[in-house]
Amino acid sequence: MNKNQNISFQVDAGGSLKGCIRVPGDKSISHRSIMLGAIAEGTTRISGFLEGDDSLATLRAFQAMGVDIEGPDKGRVVVHGVGLNGLQAPAQPLDLGNSGTSMRLLSGLLAGQAFDSELVGDSSLMSRPMRRVTAPLAQMGAEIDTTDAGTAPLKIRGGRRLQAIDYQMPVASAQVKSCLLLAGLYAHGRTCVHEPAPTRDHTERMLNGMGYPVDCSEGAACLDGGGSLAATVIDVPADISSAAFFLVGASIAPGSDLQLQHVGVNPTRTGVIDILKLMGADIVLSNPRIVGGEPVADVRVRAASLHGIDIPLEQVPLAIDEFPALFVAAACAQGRTVLTGAEELRVKESDRIQVMADGLRALGVDAEPTPDGMIIQGGDIAGGTVDSHGDHRIAMSFAMAALRASGPIRIEDCANVNTSFPGFVELAANAGLRMQA
Ligand code: S3P
Repeated sequence: MNKNQNISFQVDAGGSLKGCIRVPGDKSISHRSIMLGAIAEGTTRISGFLEGDDSLATLRAFQAMGVDIEGPDKGRVVVHGVGLNGLQAPAQPLDLGNSGTSMRLLSGLLAGQAFDSELVGDSSLMSRPMRRVTAPLAQMGAEIDTTDAGTAPLKIRGGRRLQAIDYQMPVASAQVKSCLLLAGLYAHGRTCVHEPAPTRDHTERMLNGMGYPVDCSEGAACLDGGGSLAATVIDVPADISSAAFFLVGASIAPGSDLQLQHVGVNPTRTGVIDILKLMGADIVLSNPRIVGGEPVADVRVRAASLHGIDIPLEQVPLAIDEFPALFVAAACAQGRTVLTGAEELRVKESDRIQVMADGLRALGVDAEPTPDGMIIQGGDIAGGTVDSHGDHRIAMSFAMAALRASGPIRIEDCANVNTSFPGFVELAANAGLRMQA
């Protein structure tokens, strides 16, 4: 898929999802495997790495800072760590494409370096809020310039002596938490980040796995600056956020019976499974195991008749990337589904509340956007054309909607599917989605 080409998906109506598939590696864990591998002592060997544009942007950023990285080759990457203080000044601004995780986590890591750096990205990333990281980093003594709107480019001044902080996050964000923990590695003293609700904890798990103690208790993650990370072996599980499209697709398409292999089921990520089950989905986990400190399982999903629910507030951060897909499930459910407490969706790769509501309405679905969520009345889905606004998860969600539509669905602006799910079209077509690879 060529990023510069405007790609649309054309999906014929109907079909069911069957067979046994493995979706690509977890995006969040792939980013962290490169970042932490790069600043570790020794050689980190990664398998299952996501070869999508976002995680590749992180990989290239570290290559630009002098880290010797081999691969990726069929998901295998070898990172020759340079230690906490071994990164070198990049010759140019680091271009992080569409990747918010790269920009927010790197801002923390780079705030503690001896050299200046600058972070840029595509038009979506350059309009996303960055004060949520630059403000607490400034409290630590970092000096980072943004635009007046608080957006990138981020110009990060090196050579600052960082001081640890005890920080209460106003939003439940794993990117902010991870950013501050990475800055905390370079800070004098003990950095503690308190979260208003549990968020994904891959950074904490990986740091602990690399021998860098992170204390996680009572809603906070704390670490002392100035230690060192030991290189390790990382097996990245399949991304539950990519599996989510298939969990929804197989649930809504009559006759479906699909097995998803080696899926990461970290409890800070499984909101999509719990929410779908509350809606009546038939999802069964088997063969639970721990792989490199992360829970993994095989997941079987069969078609079921879904009903609308009020989505529990505490599930929102645990399913934050899965709401585009869950909105499609809600459109196919009997009765009303109400989401609240999810204003964060408005500042993702697109405004996911507005863009999903517009798309669902274009397909005849009764969807009412609210400031912090959506009210969806389940019913029939018509064929039609929707605009994904360059948002990968929106494109893939509407592709799944075709399984229950009465006519073909055309989805515009889909090139960014490659940021998180290279090979989506082929895998989905093989499983039974009626789209041309
Ligand atoms: C991510 C955290 C979440 C999520 C994003 C990946 C991460 O963002 O939406 O796709 O890897 O830490 P927020 O921290 O903004 O909630």
